[in-house]
Amino acid sequence: MNAKNSDFGSFAQDVLLGLSSNPKTLSSKYFYDEKGDKLFQDIMALPEYYLTRKEFEILESQHEQILRPVLESGEPFNLVELGAGDGLKTKILLRYLRDNQVDFSYFPIDFSGSVLKELKESLVQEMPDLKVTTIENTYRGALKERAWDNGKRSLILFLGSNLGNFQLKEAYEILDHLMIGTNHSDWVIIGFDLKKHPQITLNAYNDPTGVTRAFNLNLLARINKELGANFDLDSFIHWPSYDPISGECRSYLVSTKRQQVYFSSNQETIHFEAFESIFMEVSKKYNLIEIGELAERSGFKVIQNFTDPETYFADCLWQKK
Ligand code: AVI
Repeated sequence: MNAKNSDFGSFAQDVLLGLSSNPKTLSSKYFYDEKGDKLFQDIMALPEYYLTRKEFEILESQHEQILRPVLESGEPFNLVELGAGDGLKTKILLRYLRDNQVDFSYFPIDFSGSVLKELKESLVQEMPDLKVTTIENTYRGALKERAWDNGKRSLILFLGSNLGNFQLKEAYEILDHLMIGTNHSDWVIIGFDLKKHPQITLNAYNDPTGVTRAFNLNLLARINKELGANFDLDSFIHWPSYDPISGECRSYLVSTKRQQVYFSSNQETIHFEAFESIFMEVSKKYNLIEIGELAERSGFKVIQNFTDPETYFADCLWQKK
């Protein structure tokens, strides 16, 4: 089953609006076309990109403790996942639930249809009895629609530091949606990349092999392909920066020359001054106190924070008050 939603906003409109703003910006949610999905897989395998490995480590070694409060009631429930991706980490939980004959249904949500298709195929192969309903939508759209709402309690997974791809104000908006999209005493597990030595953080977004650079440039390639634009990819440099106070790792593409980009689809031209930048993505890092504030101010109580031994990453179990 696939509950597809058409409320995506228009790619062309978002791109042209973002590139006409000052400073110029593009939404990182558009990174994930088929090529972008593959490049993100490559990022996750990079030695510098510790996030995925650390979260995997937490789920692998602590899944029993993480799920215990949810399983205590013995009631069937919905496992809803925002930004499911390849489901590699979630499969740790899915296998554990299956092996313990827990009655639950899985609702993976992702903005990328190709990712959901692959996930569904691999789940059918590995766990043919699993009840799966894929939902192709944005976080906000899915939380508004609540296609999973069947009167059962839900555990919402928001893994992989996906909330970090929103600035603080937007993160609160997402949590407001989460608040509205959940019922009393539903559970939430959110993954957060923790503040650490700034060099380690910066390196994760500045790999020497250039995969993260290619990931950013791929959005320009996508715009060329889908919107008939003529970005010259070689005239943009990838520039990540990390501010240890805000915890924001920000990625920019900087135009190395004065140039114009023409959009043949709607005959618009975008001007770049030399060294003018496009703000591409924020990946925000938190500490456990800031995470507690986030929960408290959005109406959740923190049940427990699960971290890896180096405290690089945290999966935080919250419950709606
Ligand atoms: C998907 N998201 C959590 C990744 C991150 O770390 O912000 C996306 C990413 N961008 C560059 N590298 C990885």
